[in-house]
Amino acid sequence: MSFRCPEHVETTEVGPRDGLQSEPVFVPTAKKIELAEALIASGLRHFEMTSFVSPRAVPQMRDAAEVMAAFRDRPDLWLTALVPNAKGAERSIEAGVDAMVVFMSASESHNLKNVNQTRQHSLQGFRQIADIAQGTGVVVQGSIATAFGCPFEGEVPVADVVEVAKAYRDLGITRITLGDTTGVATPPLVAERCRALREAVPDIDISLHFHNTRGVGLVCAYAGLLNGISRFESSVGGLGGCPFVPRATGNISTEDFVYMLDECGIGSGVDLPKLCDAAKLAERIVGRALPGQVMKAGPRLRTYPMDAARTANG
Ligand code: COA
Ligand code: ZN
Repeated sequence: MSFRCPEHVETTEVGPRDGLQSEPVFVPTAKKIELAEALIASGLRHFEMTSFVSPRAVPQMRDAAEVMAAFRDRPDLWLTALVPNAKGAERSIEAGVDAMVVFMSASESHNLKNVNQTRQHSLQGFRQIADIAQGTGVVVQGSIATAFGCPFEGEVPVADVVEVAKAYRDLGITRITLGDTTGVATPPLVAERCRALREAVPDIDISLHFHNTRGVGLVCAYAGLLNGISRFESSVGGLGGCPFVPRATGNISTEDFVYMLDECGIGSGVDLPKLCDAAKLAERIVGRALPGQVMKAGPRLRTYPMDAARTANG
């Protein structure tokens, strides 16, 4: 089956969560809010704003409720947060999320590292979380970590990813993200996994989440577009990485992704120069250069006065 690229893409900005979660120095709540405001100013509307996880496991996210408080009354925003267990579900509802994102890994070892329990145990917990969400108006979304490979087990069979997606579907969770936690996705794997999921669980809505660990994050996103996917997650400046994998690196950068979409004539609703301003703010906040490239190089047709460069003469 061949697909046309979508005309419009929904980008979820995960910088405030996946982006900041492994920053070693606590980013003050006011700075997190300032960054999210700058991202909103660029036109982004979907955010994974924080996570309601154990503050001992991920100290950077200990101000989840305070961050949410700054945005919860904005009806134009769709705010999600990562939730690992019933306690997180209750905290997230109280904090005013639109959707909570439950997560488990397709591979057992990463699940054990990330949430300290087996996949079976995670699924039992999700049943409880679905019950807590019932009747509150809060949507439950599902994320599948290590969906393209695992840092401890290597190859992750597509059948294992399908199995998790089916388990989510059986719990009534139909918005599902395939997470490439360690940046091991490749275009053929993206095509294979999107097709397998569409065939096995046609009623789910797939979103893709890549890390640019091996330089092909955007290529994988493009492969997703070619396979008819129109929902993606990315992180401003290319911030980010999972604290529970060795040598983790950032997500695909939102501004590089929006640049690609713009140049392909695919709508995102985002203003690239304003987004680049937000990426530069992110660099100032974390105090170092980030991997995003378009914020440094500028737009495609950026020109310079001729005397800005040396002439090659002998
Ligand atoms: N929010 C706040 N505190 C929480 C919590 C939550 N969602 N879940 C557990 N805690 C607290 C418990 O109250 C307990 O505190 P106490 O010792 O003061 O009583 C402590 O954390 C340990 O709880 P326990 O249920 O034994 O959990 P654990 O130590 O086995 O850790 C998780 C399990 C899931 C809570 C933890 O591994 C986690 O938060 N992982 C998130 C990982 C993550 O965010 N990864 C990045 C995304 S890919
Ligand atoms: Zn991630």
